[in-house]
Amino acid sequence: MSDHQFRKPVRKAVFPVAGLGTRFLPATKAIPKELLPVVDRPLIQYAVDEAREAGIEEFVFVTGRGKTAIVEHFDTAYELEATMTGRGKSLDPLEPTRIQPGNLVTVRQQVPLGLGHAVWCARAVVGDEPFAIFLPDELMYGTPGCMKQMIDAYNEVGGNLVSVLEVPNEEVSSYGVIAPGESRGNLTEVKGLVEKPKASEAPSNKIVSGRYILQPEVMGLLETQGKGAGGEIQLTDSMAKLIGQQPFHAVTFNGRRFDCGSKVGFVEATLAIALDREDMRDDVRAIAQRLLG
Ligand code: UTP
Repeated sequence: MSDHQFRKPVRKAVFPVAGLGTRFLPATKAIPKELLPVVDRPLIQYAVDEAREAGIEEFVFVTGRGKTAIVEHFDTAYELEATMTGRGKSLDPLEPTRIQPGNLVTVRQQVPLGLGHAVWCARAVVGDEPFAIFLPDELMYGTPGCMKQMIDAYNEVGGNLVSVLEVPNEEVSSYGVIAPGESRGNLTEVKGLVEKPKASEAPSNKIVSGRYILQPEVMGLLETQGKGAGGEIQLTDSMAKLIGQQPFHAVTFNGRRFDCGSKVGFVEATLAIALDREDMRDDVRAIAQRLLG
């Protein structure tokens, strides 16, 4: 097979948002984790903005029970808009929530069996095209955005790509970890992938961080993928089977990643982004200094 086959444009993105968000209870009992706001935008908005910047046209949300508010966030709110217009208020803050009619598709993951299963639930919409995956609780903050950096790399090497970053050795057991091959610039060849390895057995300290570009063949592998780490159907296990069959690279993201699925990561993101915003920076710094005494 020629590599040419693995270079079709990436137009679609899958957002698996059916997880239970148990680490954030009770906040996430009635509110989806993906709608928790960092400053003034919910997590899902950061991911959709990043996707748009990378040229994604079709947005596929894999939802589950209690997650319909995520879809409503991207709906037109007629009464709100009419009231705001009547009061002479600008509708600009709503601009990022507009998605071209027909370009937001939802599919349902009836039971949260794992990330791999969630991605497989999008197979009919993905069809035979390469696609991006965004885990919205990993907030990737940089210019250009993480997926734009990955698309630039994809245009060079095609195939499959994951974004990676280095963490201290003792943290690798919480993540998918790559076995790295040769590196060139921000690109590293991926020779192997393992989900949640023991620190002593991890092939590196480069962890996969919530952004993927995958060829559609992964769906066929997910179809028969058995349970892996944590008793869940793991995307990592099916991706690992693509290595050697198709090009597979990692992109080291030039930017900052906040793990907003964890409480400390969420607070860090809120502080970092507030301190980065011109309209808030001075006030937030003064408050932080006061709090730290
Ligand atoms: P997490 O591992 O963060 O799980 O999932 P979670 O359920 O969201 O949160 P905790 O660990 O209970 O606090 C990573 C991503 O995969 C999605 C989640 O929504 C999140 O975006 N996911 C996970 C699914 O869509 N379905 C699943 O079955 C599992």
